[in-house]
Order: sequence, then C-alpha cells, then structure tokens
Amino acid sequence: MAIPFISHRYIILLLIFLSCMQAYEQNNPTIVMIGSGYVGLVSGPGLAEIGNKVICADVDTHKIAMLEQGKLPIYEPGLEKVIAQNVAAEKLSFTADVGKAIEKANVVFIAVGTPMGEDGSADLSYVKAVAELIAQHITSYKVICTKSTVPVGTGAWIRSLLESHGVKPELFDIVSNPEFLREGSAVDDFLKPDRVVIGTETDKAREIMYNIYKPMFDAGAPYIFTTVPSSEMIKYASNGFLAVKISYINEIANLCDATGADVKTVSKAMGLDKRICPYFLNPGPGFGGSCFPKDSQALMYASEKYQVPLEVVKASLATNALQKKVPFKKLCALMHKDLQGKTIAILGLAYKGNTDDIRYSPSINVIKELLESGAQIKTFDPQAMENMKAIFSPYTHAITYCTDAYTACTGADAVMIMTEWNEFKILDLCKIASLVNNKILVDARNIIDIKELKKLGFAFDAIGRSCMCA
Ligand SMILES: NC(=O)c1ccc[n+]([C@@H]2O[C@H](COP(=O)([O-])OP(=O)(O)OC[C@H]3O[C@@H](n4cnc5c(N)ncnc54)[C@H](O)[C@@H]3O)[C@@H](O)[C@H]2O)c1
Repeated sequence: MAIPFISHRYIILLLIFLSCMQAYEQNNPTIVMIGSGYVGLVSGPGLAEIGNKVICADVDTHKIAMLEQGKLPIYEPGLEKVIAQNVAAEKLSFTADVGKAIEKANVVFIAVGTPMGEDGSADLSYVKAVAELIAQHITSYKVICTKSTVPVGTGAWIRSLLESHGVKPELFDIVSNPEFLREGSAVDDFLKPDRVVIGTETDKAREIMYNIYKPMFDAGAPYIFTTVPSSEMIKYASNGFLAVKISYINEIANLCDATGADVKTVSKAMGLDKRICPYFLNPGPGFGGSCFPKDSQALMYASEKYQVPLEVVKASLATNALQKKVPFKKLCALMHKDLQGKTIAILGLAYKGNTDDIRYSPSINVIKELLESGAQIKTFDPQAMENMKAIFSPYTHAITYCTDAYTACTGADAVMIMTEWNEFKILDLCKIASLVNNKILVDARNIIDIKELKKLGFAFDAIGRSCMCA
C-alpha cells in the first residue's frame, strides 16, 4: 500500500492545531462531578453557573431520572433555579453512565459520600470505587479532584491506586478542593464562598483549577492554593473547630441554666468580640448533620493512628453526646417523668433549618427516648418527614406525621421545638395554646418568644435560659 506523502507544512499545521486544542481544553475543560448528593448537586450546577461545562454523574439511576425530568432529589433553597438555567444554557447535564462521563471529562471531581466507618474512620469505599472506575476509563490526561471530605493522605492513596491499576502517572494529576458549603444556604455559600481552597501537585493542574474558578476569583472570592495534604487537612481542621465552638456554647448554656445567666445575652456579647465572631454561638440540642459528627470522629481516628492527642475535639464529641439528651431531660422535668401514653408534638426533624437532611439529627435521639418512655409522637417538618419515615418505619403505630405544626400540636400533652425552621419562629402561640391538651413546651432552639409563652400560661424551658423561663 502506498503511504501518502505528508508535507512538513501539513505536519506543522497539525501540531499547531493540536496544541491549540490542548490550550482550549485547558481553558474550557469539561467537568464531570461524580456524586450528585448535597455537595455534588450544588457544586456541579455552581461550577456551570460561573461558566463551566459540567456533567453531574451518579450511580443512583432514580436520582438521575428525576434530575433529567427537572425534579430535585434533595431540598435546597435556590438550587432548582440554578439547575434549570444552566440546563437551558446547555452548560449542565446529568448522566447515570459514570464511565462514559469520565471519558469525556478533562477534570473529574469526586463528590461521593465518605460516611463514618464502624471504627470512626472515614469510609473511603465510594471514593475507591470511583478511582477504580477512572482507572478503567482514562485514556487522556485528566485532573482528578477530591471534593468529598477525605483524610490527609487520600490524594496520595488515589494516586497509588490508579498506578497499581496500570494508569501512567503522566495521564493524571491529583487535586484536593474541599467544599465548605452549608446545607440550607448551599447555593449562596458555593457561589459566594468565604474562601476556595485548592491543593495541587503540579503547575498544570493549578492552572486548570485556577481557570475553572477564575470568574469567582475575579469577583473577589478569596482563594488559597496549597499542597494536597494541607488542603485535605484544612477541611477537617475547620469542621473540628466549628464542632468545638458549638459544644463550647452548649456547655456555657448549661452553666447559664444552673447559675441564672441568660445565654442569649451572653453569646451576643461574646460574638461582638471580633476574635470570637457571632457565628456558631447558638446553643441547641447538639450538633448533627452529615459533617461535624463524622469529621470529628475521623479526626479522632487520625489522632490514634498518628499518636497525636486531640483532646479538645474528643471533648467536643463527648459534650455533644450529652447535649443530645438535654431536650428530653428538660421535657421529663416539666412532665414530672410521666410520659407513658402521653402525646408529644415534635416540631422539626431535620438536623437544622432549610434542609431535608436528617443524618445524625438530634430529633432522632429525642424520638428514640420518647418511644422508649411509651409516649406517642405527632410530628411535622416542612421537608424532612419522608426521610424520617424511612428510619422509623417499624414505629408507624407510635408516630403520626402531620400536615402542619398546628395539626401536630392538636391534643398534645407537650410540644418540643427541635429545628429552627423560619415558620416555627412565627408560630401563632395563642392558637397553639388553644389546641394543646397541656401547655408545656421545650424550645431546643431558643426561637420562641418567652414573654408570650409566659403570658399564655405555658410551663416551658429552653437551652441556657432557665432564668427567663421560671
Ligand atoms: N452535606 C454537606 O453539607 C457537606 C458539606 C461539605 C462537604 N461534604 C462532603 O461531601 C461529600 C459528599 O457529601 P454529600 O452530603 O453530598 O453525600 P450524599 O450522600 O448526599 O451524596 C453522595 C452521592 O454519591 C453517589 N455515589 C456513590 N457512589 C458513587 C459512584 N461510584 N459513582 C457515582 N456516584 C456515586 C450517591 O448515589 C449519592 O448520590 C462527603 O465527603 C461529605 O463529607 C458534605
């Protein structure tokens, strides 16, 4: 067969074309976000919103089918709009074919769950499954970026995993880009972050990551480029610190209860000190959610592994376990420990307001204690009832899920406020007083007007406000 003659000019033009293509891809990469949960489903659309082309991938075919029909599998304020406008602009798409999405991508974000393992360590089995899938599908250079919260050393572990599957080192760079969004305000948190943290190993990966976030950086978002291990550590150090801060104010609230101080005034005055700042100083029923409990436990696991004491983090977990018992104890005191056969209205099931997430929610602890005491439960949450039903499915005889807060309170022997939903802050207390069987209320979020409760003749308690409740 005759080999066609290729002129030098043609080869030079081809090389110029290929290098232009490479530069174009570097500046306009196709991103795949693997894992479309609370983080992936905000980060993916968020990256599309700032101009990138993003494919959100998930093995959960039901989730992907919902997204393709324009429905959201989670509740997150503002997310529906961001997704709809970026799908319409053809910057965002969804797929359950994760392998194919990896093939198309220049940058692969890993945003799968890293739940708490039995020994307290972060369970990296979902991350491992994704890394193995990448190994099967990688044919051209990719940045592989962890957005999941992963222990220090995970980036290096992914690298060795890929290499052990025969992937050539020059085919990928490992990056760490932890996510700091808060459920309930996740879209805003992602688009207007306090900081973006990126850990890289090479200038090439750094440039690619810089270009992805450039519109955000140009708009003034602070950013820190660092090494992969430091980036991984920043996420844990931040969450551990916030958990400590919450446990600290919860302990101060309990001391306020015992001494006659009002924690609301105490925390307000503390927060005015710029060194302390006012955030995360609201006492409550203990921290829950998918992050603080498991990330603090993972820090404890690292503490043992590396033989480095983390006594402050350890104490915050112990304090939190005790704090989760406080609302129930307060209820028992108000009801003279007589809960057998009584009906308790639980307002709020989500671990915090504005989300349907119930992972490690303090409401779970309270419901378990009430069931053990022989109480009946009537409950309402604006978004989290379906998730809670799945956990307490064997107890349908003891738990009634209601259509609104007032229905839940009707005929109740006591009311417990467990989540700080805005609609609970403006409850018509006069109406509640007329609906309940007994005017007893525990406000585990300090959101109810104490003066009005007093005027209406309620026996009540809150967190760290006993002096006001007497
Ligand atoms: N939820 C938060 O507020 C928050 C905030 C910051 C960081 N994080 C971290 O982000 C990570 C994800 O958290 P989340 O709350 O979004 O979890 P999630 O459980 O809501 O979502 C994880 C998703 O990954 C999917 N998945 C699992 N294996 C997969 C695979 N092999 N391929 C494709 N998809 C797969 C699951 O189907 C699920 O949809 C965790 O490491 C978490 O600690 C969470």
